Amino acid sequence: MTRVRMGMVGGGEGGFIGRIHRLAAALDGEVELVCGAFSADPERSRRSGAAWGLDPARVYPDWQVLLAAEAARPAAERAEFIAVVTPNHLHLPVAAAALEAGFAVFCEKPATRDLAEARALAEVVAASGRPFALAHTYAGYPLVHEARARIAAGELGRVRRVVVEYQQGWLAADPGGEPWRLDPARSGPSGCLADIGVHAFHLAEFVTGLEVAELAADLAAVVPGRRVEDDAAVLLRFAGGARGVLLASQVSPGEENGLRIRVYGERAGLEWFQEAPNTLWLKGNDRPAARLTAGGPWLGKVARALTRTPPGHPEGYIEAFANLYRAFAAAVRAGGRHAPPEAAWLPGIREAVRGMAFVDAALASSRAGGAWRALPADLAEEKTP
Ligand SMILES: NC(=O)c1ccc[n+]([C@@H]2O[C@H](COP(=O)([O-])OP(=O)(O)OC[C@H]3O[C@@H](n4cnc5c(N)ncnc54)[C@H](O)[C@@H]3O)[C@@H](O)[C@H]2O)c1
Repeated sequence: MTRVRMGMVGGGEGGFIGRIHRLAAALDGEVELVCGAFSADPERSRRSGAAWGLDPARVYPDWQVLLAAEAARPAAERAEFIAVVTPNHLHLPVAAAALEAGFAVFCEKPATRDLAEARALAEVVAASGRPFALAHTYAGYPLVHEARARIAAGELGRVRRVVVEYQQGWLAADPGGEPWRLDPARSGPSGCLADIGVHAFHLAEFVTGLEVAELAADLAAVVPGRRVEDDAAVLLRFAGGARGVLLASQVSPGEENGLRIRVYGERAGLEWFQEAPNTLWLKGNDRPAARLTAGGPWLGKVARALTRTPPGHPEGYIEAFANLYRAFAAAVRAGGRHAPPEAAWLPGIREAVRGMAFVDAALASSRAGGAWRALPADLAEEKTP
């Protein structure tokens, strides 16, 4: 099997998520980083590429030069996809230009700064016919798939209640500098929801297989002077009648990456917590809670296929990310619009637009004092083929 060739925009020295992408992409030996424009500063980009042993001729001063130069290379050499790991304001321009130049795209979340940009990106994805994936990391955890499979198989009965939260504390005080996440020009009009709320939203829909139809939100910039919210509470109503609560906060001292989901159906419930990702709890009124661990024969086919080590040897964030990369490599090899079965679960442009529709509706609801707002009806019909 030949390795899929990756280019990267963003993720130069000092960048957070680009490093995780590089580690995850390399984990299974199916993807090779061949080029990049790693920083807005050409010298920083050059230093980064040199540190990782890349061919200096393929470490570019900016992303426009990268796309033009790589597209001009022979097909057997050029990057096949571009990982977009920059701040949010560059997702649309870079991803759209990459798709238009013939590359597949693996894009960080949130898809874009706002819903209008996400819809514009969706048009480019559709016109290009190239694979597009969105980096909802948590969809890569084996036990998230186990929860999803058990709910789909009816083990909980009809889902009635979803409680999902993503709590962080790092913005409880001024972090110093000017983080792009607090700048609406670079983050978009939302802070906390765009940054971590979209993960919680995606996880809720992904695990339950249900779609949020409407919501009521209370967003706040708790720390004075902030131009985007740092705390959010959202009530959810799913199509079909289930109800939910989504909490996202970056001002909860002591919380790290506290992403937790609990789903309750007519007969049973389940719980998964990102900071202990190798455990899935199953609960019922008529039995003690059961602890399912990763790697065991009690797991379904998909969860087992996404696990690399035996039970008790912990896998985590990088392995989950690597599962996204392995699925995306399969999609890139398949080449076209239709994902191969092993990549069918990968979040794509549909999830990208839904995430931004969630943020958009939450902002509108909160501005209207917490009034209920529907997600656009057309998004409920845009099923992936
Ligand atoms: N999937 C996840 O769990 C996850 C986690 C963290 C961040 N993210 C997302 O990843 C993206 C990046 O976040 P981060 O925390 O790594 O930010 P960061 O500030 O740590 O890194 C951003 C990188 O982009 C580079 N960059 C900026 N402008 C550029 C340009 N014009 N050309 C090339 N490179 C440029 C910077 O040099 C830096 O290396 C954001 O969209 C964020 O929401 C996702």
